[in-house]
Amino acid sequence: MEPRPPNKRTGVNDTLLYYEHRKKKKCSCLGICCIICCTAIIILALVAVLLVFVGIPVVFKKSPSLQRKIVFPTNNLLPSNPEFSNFEKYDIKGARNINFTLEYIVSLSLGVWHLLPHGLVNNSLDTQNFDHSASLMQGGYPVIIHFHSNGGNRIKFIKMYNVLRTYFHVIAFDYRGYADSSSVEPTEEGIVEDTLRLYQWVRYQTNADIYFWGHELGAAIATHTIARLHEGEDYVVPMGLFLEAPFTSMRDQINEIPFFRKLFSWLPWYQSTILNPLDENGFSLNTARYITNVECPIMIVHAEDDAVTPSSFSEKLAKVAAEHLDSETKGNVTLHLLPAHFGYGHFSIHKSLELPFFIMKHITVCEAYRYI
Ligand SMILES: *[C@@H]1O[C@H](CO)[C@@H](O)[C@H](O)[C@H]1NC(C)=O
Ligand SMILES: *[C@@H]1O[C@H](CO)[C@@H](O)[C@H](O)[C@H]1NC(C)=O
Ligand SMILES: *[C@@H]1O[C@H](CO)[C@@H](O)[C@H](O)[C@H]1NC(C)=O
Repeated sequence: MEPRPPNKRTGVNDTLLYYEHRKKKKCSCLGICCIICCTAIIILALVAVLLVFVGIPVVFKKSPSLQRKIVFPTNNLLPSNPEFSNFEKYDIKGARNINFTLEYIVSLSLGVWHLLPHGLVNNSLDTQNFDHSASLMQGGYPVIIHFHSNGGNRIKFIKMYNVLRTYFHVIAFDYRGYADSSSVEPTEEGIVEDTLRLYQWVRYQTNADIYFWGHELGAAIATHTIARLHEGEDYVVPMGLFLEAPFTSMRDQINEIPFFRKLFSWLPWYQSTILNPLDENGFSLNTARYITNVECPIMIVHAEDDAVTPSSFSEKLAKVAAEHLDSETKGNVTLHLLPAHFGYGHFSIHKSLELPFFIMKHITVCEAYRYI
């Protein structure tokens, strides 16, 4: 029986008894509350863990469009408010903007810049109606096609073009889906179809030697394009290939993104939900595979302090390429690792004082292999 609340007549013992009982009752109430709360929290935590560690990988696996957004981020490209024909804005002289139109399956156009070599700029400024295409055709300078990395439009890489313009006519362009190029969904295959045609167009514009320069994702596209040219009937081989901060494959590169590696790489389903879908949905960008089909001299340059793409990728690429490239007749591979203390990172290799020397040397190597 429950003790009654005490009143004036309740003895000391009964009063104590009463309060003792109330305390016990309160405690058991608290206990139940506590258990319910804890269970709820545990369930919520479990749901959250499931959402993060199962939900995100499954959504990623099931959504090629999400994968595309990560591999080819085409929204809000930097620099913003681009004006591709307003060269003054970017302090560029001796350049033209070209709307390169492709007619196959779909009608598609790419935004392309043609930047004259520094040595022709004064001439172009002094001459009224200077003919850029004639100067490209004359072939006094070789031509380099620049394949940019994934997070930017072609304006972002002007500093590298300025280094290249010492030696080359520079052709810089935006991939489909990027900047002022047609807003067609980018895929690796689609982009390579475009770059094959861009190469053919440049080939018709000049008799000069044509080199490829690829930065990061651009290195994968450039290498893939060469592999495809090589497969083609006319067996075209460009003069030389330059790879700046390349990755070995998109799998390896995604694995370097801290969000994926730190959060998910321990999961047994990491491979099947995060990495494999990239290959399954046409985002393999497997530079290490394509490079085995390159038959021209290759120069790779990578900063050791690159926090986006580790320089070990370049070491691996150089090794794979050297195994396949016949250095007696086709070309050799040169790897330049730039020491970390220079601080060039992923985007500032153009600052390297040695870079012009490396480029010059590579041109000499490529020219030497031409006659073998
Ligand atoms: C072009 O002209 C500028 C100014 O007249 C001069 O400083 C520069 O050296 C010239 N460049 C070349 C490559 O001749
Ligand atoms: C390029 O040309 C195509 C076809 O003439 C046109 O549809 C497109 O808008 C042009 N692009 C630019 C950026 O002017
Ligand atoms: C590649 O060949 C050139 C010229 O034959 C040579 O100078 C260079 O050292 C070679 N590079 C490598 C890595 O063997």
